[in-house]
Amino acid sequence: MWLPDAGALTMAIGYGKLILLGEHSVVHGRPALAASLGVGAEASATLSERTSLHVQPWDVKVYADGHETEPDRENLRRALNALLHQQMPPAPPLAIEARLDLPAGAGLGSSAALGVAVLRAIDEAQGAVRDRDQVTQMSLAWERVFHGNPSGVDNAMAAGAGVALYRKGEPLVPVTPRHRPRFVVAHSGEFGSTKAMVDNVARQYEKARTRVAQIFDAIESLVLNAKVALEQGDMAGFGKLMDLNQALLSSLMLSTSTLEEMCGAARNVGALGAKLTGGGGGGCMIALVDAAHEAEVLAVLSSMGKKQAFIAEAGA
Ligand code: MEV
Repeated sequence: MWLPDAGALTMAIGYGKLILLGEHSVVHGRPALAASLGVGAEASATLSERTSLHVQPWDVKVYADGHETEPDRENLRRALNALLHQQMPPAPPLAIEARLDLPAGAGLGSSAALGVAVLRAIDEAQGAVRDRDQVTQMSLAWERVFHGNPSGVDNAMAAGAGVALYRKGEPLVPVTPRHRPRFVVAHSGEFGSTKAMVDNVARQYEKARTRVAQIFDAIESLVLNAKVALEQGDMAGFGKLMDLNQALLSSLMLSTSTLEEMCGAARNVGALGAKLTGGGGGGCMIALVDAAHEAEVLAVLSSMGKKQAFIAEAGA
């Protein structure tokens, strides 16, 4: 198993997430349906002489007052400072230890989970208490360092558990599924840069405003219908809406041949629907499964993916 179980989360935490429908169009003001994962990141902070952040399993350490020669680390240092600069009163020097239990670049919200866990660790050391909305808002500064123009959906889901409808600038709408949907999550083995994919869609939107706006509008209808399908327990309908969303994401050049093959293979052995999740261009896909087909879908996707697939219950 390449993801540990939820029991691993014991300190300040941030959840990973699955976007069920609506990635990318959510950046442009349309809604997305998302669910937290039972795993993510955890962090703790203790008083120290200089503020530092040490992230496992990468064994990467940055100092808030340092400069980094490697671009990845410089981003991590800047993201840390983006959180520290919002602290009022300023935080004392802290040694922050963090652990990420999600793969990066997989579409599972790893950077937002880490940002939320680090923010909460700083808050705990400061004795600051914030509600979910405040954590979402403050951690957006961290996300911007990595993703340029994030919609905020990853942070919102990292800050709390459940299934929800998210629209930029609006309060999160909790969704109560009639039956909690189960997904096989499988990694394509390809790395997808969310920032590159978001920039790519923005360029397409600039060049062909009407066509791309129509695609975003169509995705919005799928998302709203999917919310109703979840609430009514219409899992077959929900799966079909996922398939349609995948076709529209492909038309925006966000899919890859590996992701398409994996979605096709999952549907062939009984998945109710399948699509990429998150930024695309690689990373993970999700397949909606019922009890009768779960094991076979899991076996097929595990044999195709470069990492072992796993089962996730949405909103766990
Ligand atoms: C990434 O998990 C989801 C995207 O829609 C980007 C965003 O919403 O910030 C691709």
